[in-house]
Amino acid sequence: MVMKVIPISSGRTPAPAFAGGTLRDTLGRSMHDLRISVTDRCNFRCVYCMPREVFDANYTFLPHSAILSFEEIARLARIFVGLGVEKIRLTGGEPLVRRDLHRLVAMLKELDVELTLTTNGSLLAKNAQALAQAGLDRVTVSLDSLDEATFRAMNDVDFPVAKVLESIDAAAAAGLSPVKVNMVVKRGVNDGDILPMAERWRGSGHIARFIEYMDVGSSNGWRMDDVVPSAEVVRRISERWPLEPVGANYAGEVAARWRYVDGAGEIGVISSVTQAFCGSCTRMRLSTEGALFTCLFAQSGHDLKSLLRGGASDEEIRDQIAAVWQRRADRYSEIRTSETAKLRKVEMSYIGG
Ligand code: GTP
Ligand code: 5AD
Ligand code: SF4
Ligand code: SF4
Repeated sequence: MVMKVIPISSGRTPAPAFAGGTLRDTLGRSMHDLRISVTDRCNFRCVYCMPREVFDANYTFLPHSAILSFEEIARLARIFVGLGVEKIRLTGGEPLVRRDLHRLVAMLKELDVELTLTTNGSLLAKNAQALAQAGLDRVTVSLDSLDEATFRAMNDVDFPVAKVLESIDAAAAAGLSPVKVNMVVKRGVNDGDILPMAERWRGSGHIARFIEYMDVGSSNGWRMDDVVPSAEVVRRISERWPLEPVGANYAGEVAARWRYVDGAGEIGVISSVTQAFCGSCTRMRLSTEGALFTCLFAQSGHDLKSLLRGGASDEEIRDQIAAVWQRRADRYSEIRTSETAKLRKVEMSYIGG
């Protein structure tokens, strides 16, 4: 796949309009979170993300030379922090297929940010300790089912549930807690696993999160009928173990929080399809090859790598990033239709979840 990446205009850099104030986009949103994709590769082939028919032996992943080095990522991250970013999430693809990721974590830890990682858990057990020591604060682990056959069918590489559970334990033991456990719910595929998933994490200190299946990318064949609305997830769990809503931890939190009335902890639901949260979207995304994306559903990005490798100063890069944010008008989830779902959009494995 060749993703369209637009060069950022060169020439004289305009004076930053944000000087002395908070950087805002056209809808008044500030920039708080940076999600960095460290690789476009993954050792899973989840049917809703990297379907095997598309991501097969002929699929061209990015060559090593196209990928930002840890030093380049760390330099950009520092510039983003100067623009207001307070939280950095490492994603992919599967971030832990990138060798020595803990080195990047240590470099980013020098910045004053919350540092988190989203992983499929396959390589976490052996890396958890090193990541925690390097300064990672928390992890989110994807786990779509506790049922062996369903999970193996969804990851499509025959990966066993037990290994992911082992990773979650290892992460907790290393202090990367509370662990958030993400389940993408697809009707007719794993919606029967909602109650077992809730039950498994009730009272554990970890947080189960149920994600509405989204039309990201162009290869998963998304249909509205496949989506289980979060309201239904909450109703189904609540019928068994009553839930009550809890306020957000911070403005712009992606997940809506619900807690068990009996004190057994909380769950989260992520309702990008039925209750869009674009109005408070403070997320910037940096792709593996150094392109900026202002929305998960973007059709193109803005090239930062050429600036980095072309000798631009930190100030020049900062002003270009600020200019991209100031032009931002994205609100895809609010304007989604069956027609927009068919648009050619960037793949989640490339841009990062
Ligand atoms: P924490 O609150 O720190 O746990 O962060 P988070 O909720 O952003 O964590 P996570 O990366 O696990 O996000 C959960 C999921 O929500 C992602 O995997 C995506 O599926 C979805 N998501 C995250 N950000 C966005 C967004 O900006 N737009 C949409 N539509 N979905 C998002
Ligand atoms: N819809 C919803 N969530 C998705 N994820 C990947 N693809 C989709 C999709 N189409 C989730 C993964 C993981 C996180 C990175 O994003 O399961 O939890
Ligand atoms: Fe890999 Fe995560 Fe995509 Fe699954 S959802 S294929 S684990 S990047
Ligand atoms: Fe943000 Fe785009 Fe997601 Fe809306 S759809 S919340 S603008 S990333």
